[in-house]
Amino acid sequence: MGSRTCSSAVVLAISVVAVLLNADVALCGCSYKRFFAFGDSLIDTGNFVYTIGNGPSPLKELPFGMTFFKHPSGRISDGRVVVDFYAEALGLPLLPPSIPEEATGQFPTGANFAVFGSTALPPEYFKTKYNFTVNPPSTLDRQLASFKKVLARIAPGDVATRALLNESLVLVGEIGGNDYNFWFGNPSKPRETPEEYLPDVVAHIGAAVQEVIDLGARTIVVPGNFPIGCVPTYLSAHQSNVTADYDEFHCLKWYNEFSQKHNRALQQELARLRSKNPGVKVVYADYYGAAMQFVQKPQAYGIADPLVACCGGNGPYHTPAGRATTRRSCGAAPTGSPAGTACT
Ligand SMILES: *[C@@H]1O[C@H](CO)[C@@H](O)[C@H](O)[C@H]1NC(C)=O
Ligand SMILES: *[C@@H]1O[C@H](CO)[C@@H](O)[C@H](O)[C@H]1NC(C)=O
Ligand SMILES: *[C@@H]1O[C@H](CO)[C@@H](O)[C@H](O)[C@H]1NC(C)=O
Repeated sequence: MGSRTCSSAVVLAISVVAVLLNADVALCGCSYKRFFAFGDSLIDTGNFVYTIGNGPSPLKELPFGMTFFKHPSGRISDGRVVVDFYAEALGLPLLPPSIPEEATGQFPTGANFAVFGSTALPPEYFKTKYNFTVNPPSTLDRQLASFKKVLARIAPGDVATRALLNESLVLVGEIGGNDYNFWFGNPSKPRETPEEYLPDVVAHIGAAVQEVIDLGARTIVVPGNFPIGCVPTYLSAHQSNVTADYDEFHCLKWYNEFSQKHNRALQQELARLRSKNPGVKVVYADYYGAAMQFVQKPQAYGIADPLVACCGGNGPYHTPAGRATTRRSCGAAPTGSPAGTACT
């Protein structure tokens, strides 16, 4: 991979899988025939790009896909995403996105229902409770509804569905990150409010896990959230003069503590699900800890600066900045503005 000057989703994905390989999934010695996944842009392998049809999108341009597929692949990444590494570790082909074949596909090795921008909670929740409008392209509920539609076709009836899911691995997440990103991305909103709805995000993820267990799944992996206080867009949007707002690695403490709160609540929810569903393996995947390795010892991974976006623009932390017309970002730039630069 060579020496990278900035952080990369590819490196992140490799390490997350390395962490998982030390967990139950690899050690159980089981082999899964199928692998189903739900989530957001972190693992979307083409659903969102498929749904936008023939229209132009930066996601259809390099540097998306440049390092591995050598062409834009529908992933919100320069290379592979975490599910690709799961599939490889499981000895399965890369997961096809579900939406293009929702009505016809047999998905002999599984399918990926994840969609860029998805939230865990439905948009109505935010509208009703906070008068806050979000328009996610999909939600966890919509992904589950699509999954059930597919199951009803490829394994019709309760017995067949249970048998199919009994030999499948199900990945639920990371999901929920966008429920917070949308709020934190709005500077007029008080940052404390997400602490209030965090229990509902976690309960909704738990309800989805219970739903796939009720359908017959026996092994479910549920990842936590990333250290968002180390994410370039957060570092840029929530810059502070106050030294105490940063940890020793120059990440924003408050936002990292928020992710940890989410992760603690999620682990409690998973413990509850385990005791309620004996015989079912519910595995927590520590993405927070995996990602922090790059921040704590970047040189071990060939990363010069882990807090700088790999692909971006002229703003702090290499994030896009300025008005639409002068803004640089990843992929095709708006007409007349310079394209973003990607690390090599
Ligand atoms: C809801 O938000 C909109 C702006 O997004 C505002 O115009 C409206 O007054 C708000 N409604 C309530 C009940 O606060
Ligand atoms: C599920 O798989 C296990 C082995 O992995 C097997 O013992 C069990 O009978 C299966 N159950 C169903 C309902 O297919
Ligand atoms: C930093 O502090 C100065 C002076 O107190 C203030 O004017 C400025 O807005 C602060 N900047 C940020 C990003 O908080």
